[in-house]
Order: sequence, then C-alpha cells, then structure tokens
Amino acid sequence: MMEGTADMGAPLLSAGGLHVGYGLTKVIRGLDFDVQTGERLCILGGNGSGKSTLLLAIAGLIGSNTGTLDYEGVSLHRMAHFERYRRGIVLIPQNRMLFANKTVRENLELACLSIGLRSTAVEGRLERVMGTLPFLERAASKKTGLLSGGEQQIVALGRALMAEPKLLLMDEPTAGLAPIWIDQMEEGLKVARREFDLTYILVEQNVRVGLANTDRLIVLRNGVVALTGESKSMRNESELFKAYLG
Ligand SMILES: Nc1ncnc2c1ncn2[C@@H]1O[C@H](COP(=O)(O)OP(=O)(O)OP(=O)(O)O)[C@@H](O)[C@H]1O
Ligand SMILES: [Mg+2]
Repeated sequence: MMEGTADMGAPLLSAGGLHVGYGLTKVIRGLDFDVQTGERLCILGGNGSGKSTLLLAIAGLIGSNTGTLDYEGVSLHRMAHFERYRRGIVLIPQNRMLFANKTVRENLELACLSIGLRSTAVEGRLERVMGTLPFLERAASKKTGLLSGGEQQIVALGRALMAEPKLLLMDEPTAGLAPIWIDQMEEGLKVARREFDLTYILVEQNVRVGLANTDRLIVLRNGVVALTGESKSMRNESELFKAYLG
C-alpha cells in the first residue's frame, strides 16, 4: 500500500484553484489539493467551513465550474454524478441517505442498480462486502431504519463498497456515534481499505478519528486551505488548533 506524498505519478484526484458555491454564496474559494492513489486524506474544519460542499462537488451533486477538478486525468466538470459514481467516485453523505423501510440487503443491492449489473454480479459483490463487514451478513434481513446510528453507518459503508469505489468520500462517518461504534467504524474502514484497495477522503469533526485514519490532512477555513501536513505529525499540535479556529 502506498503511503504519504512521495512521487507516485499522476494523482487520482487533483483540484486547482477550485471554486464552489451556491448561487452568490461562495464557499470554496480557490482550493488546491491532490489525492494520490492509495492515499488517505483527512479534511477538518469548523461548522460551515465547506467540507460537505467540497465532497458534494467532487461527487458531482453540485456544480463546480471555476478552476480544475481532474480524476484519473479527466476533467470532472462536465461529468454527471452517475458517471462519476460508475467510475468509482462514491460518497457516503453526512446524513447517510439509506432507505429506512428497506432491509440491509436491499439497501446494499440498490447501490448497484444504477450500474446495471447482472444479478449474479450483484450476488458476488454482496458476498464480498458481507465478507468484509460481517455485521451486514448478520443484519441482512433487518429493516435498516430500526438499526442504531452506528449500525446504519456500517450499512452506509457497505453500500458504498457495493459500488467498488476507487475514491471513497466520507462525510463525518462517526458524527453522533457512541464510542464503541466509533471503534467499529474505524475497524470497518481499516478492513474495507485493505480488501478494496481504497483511496479515500475522510471529513471529520472528530480530530482524533480524522488523524488516526489518514496519511495527510487539510484544514479548511474561509474556503481555502488553512493548514496541510502529515496526519501523524499533527497530533497534539497547537498549530492545528490555530488553523482550525483562525
Ligand atoms: N444548499 C445550500 N444553499 C446555500 N448555501 C448552502 C447550502 N448548503 C450549504 N450552504 C452554506 O455553505 C457553507 C458551507 O456549508 P457546508 O455544509 O459545506 O459546511 P460543513 O463544513 O460541511 O459544515 P458542518 O461541519 O456543519 O457539516 C455554509 O455557510 C452553509 O450555510
Ligand atoms: Mg458538513
């Protein structure tokens, strides 16, 4: 597995001078960053700093037309959300967006609907995902809405894996979870990364979780990078908190 930021050829994702906003509201104001294949990038920042906006723009759920945003050497600007998903950019949104009235298995299967796989291929993926996150096998026939928040977050991770992501985008996956479920989530993520060769961007408010599960971090403030560095060198770093708070 590749670690760090050493020269590894073309990045998987590359943003240059990226601007994203909602109408007249400018949120991301000229952002530059790369994600190398195999790398784990953490994005930190206070409430409203634009973390979710950035992930939505990478996933193609909101527009981003100023600056560059390239994935596998191709510009994403004109690429529809569905096409990005098919090519391996998969978002686990902040509110998870699972189908509460469907079973865990149905939620997993639905992830493949827009990819147009044969049912035998979906079965194969189910087996692989359930083998990676055994909780999903145990909970397969349960109604998703009846599960705890932590359990649902594992379902959301499993659903993302069903799409066989190359670049997984996670928006505060541990928010609101009890400590035991934060541990489960971190463990699930480690196993998933190993089994699926994941590259990911992890947005976190939990600084400990963000730093422990990534190689490099970016702190967003006022729509630009306030601080960047290696995650392991940032622990207990007062610089980090200064960047965070401005
Ligand atoms: N649909 C929208 N329309 C207009 N403005 C929006 C919309 N969504 C978010 N914003 C604004 O964009 C800014 C960034 O929001 P965003 O949700 O990206 O922040 P965040 O860093 O994810 O915050 P949090 O940590 O609370 O999730 C905020 O000022 C927010 O009010
Ligand atoms: Mg957010």
